Amino acid sequence: MKDSAARHSDDAIISSDLLRQLAYNEKMAELGKISAGVVHELNAPLSVIISAAQMIMREEGVPDSVLEMISRINSEAQRLSHLTKGLLHFSSHDETVVDADLNLIVDFILNFLNYEAARRGVIVLKQLDYTLPVIRLDTNLLKQILLNIIMNALQAMENGGGKLLVETAAAGNDSVCFTITDNGPGIPAEAIDRIFDRYFTTKKPGEGTGLGLFVTKSLVENMGGNITVTSRSGGGTTFKVTLPTCDTER
Ligand SMILES: Nc1ncnc2c1ncn2[C@@H]1O[C@H](COP(=O)(O)OP(=O)(O)O)[C@@H](O)[C@H]1O
Ligand SMILES: [Mg+2]
Repeated sequence: MKDSAARHSDDAIISSDLLRQLAYNEKMAELGKISAGVVHELNAPLSVIISAAQMIMREEGVPDSVLEMISRINSEAQRLSHLTKGLLHFSSHDETVVDADLNLIVDFILNFLNYEAARRGVIVLKQLDYTLPVIRLDTNLLKQILLNIIMNALQAMENGGGKLLVETAAAGNDSVCFTITDNGPGIPAEAIDRIFDRYFTTKKPGEGTGLGLFVTKSLVENMGGNITVTSRSGGGTTFKVTLPTCDTER
């Protein structure tokens, strides 16, 4: 065990900025875990709402105007239930390697980020190729890749007038790719070579850790894929991720 003088000098190494950053990250990690519990709690009341709505819809003699309202309650509750189940799955730490549909995963993340886009006034467009072959990978990791890139794009478009385009396509015979394009301010030439570096961030402490793209690139490369970026200062940014369709075990 260290004596108190040694501990004191270790403590002194941590600057107050770093301490704030660490405290914030820790708080968000705890909040994330608590939120997973809250989301789990939502499941039971949602099931009750859905089954009660469906029982009313099966009753005879219910006026059309009431039926219409009940059917809206049913479909909105189903939508929430779908979202909470997806969130619970996404928040789990388990490895879930499956044959996955890239388009469904894009849809899930866009649905999940609907509010984040709307509150920044960002219009989200998608152009998905529905003839894509399946890809075999851990879907939670792919969701995290999409989340990191899209959140960066949304954060770059805080000033209004934002547009985000998500495209999927086949890339040759044995790969699929997706691109995420924003019309934010772009990445200056002096920063573009550093954005995948660990801890590189242009955001204020508490807003960015500089780990998102470092983790994203590492995950993509672990899956046997690659990630590239093109950007012009003032001209928006495009991230392109290519992933192999065949089994990535090698
Ligand atoms: N779409 C984008 N538009 C402009 N800059 C971006 C975009 N995506 C990433 N960046 C730049 O790359 C940096 C690193 O991103 P990231 O690794 O996710 O860390 P963080 O988001 O915590 O800053 C960001 O701080 C930002 O300067
Ligand atoms: Mg980020």
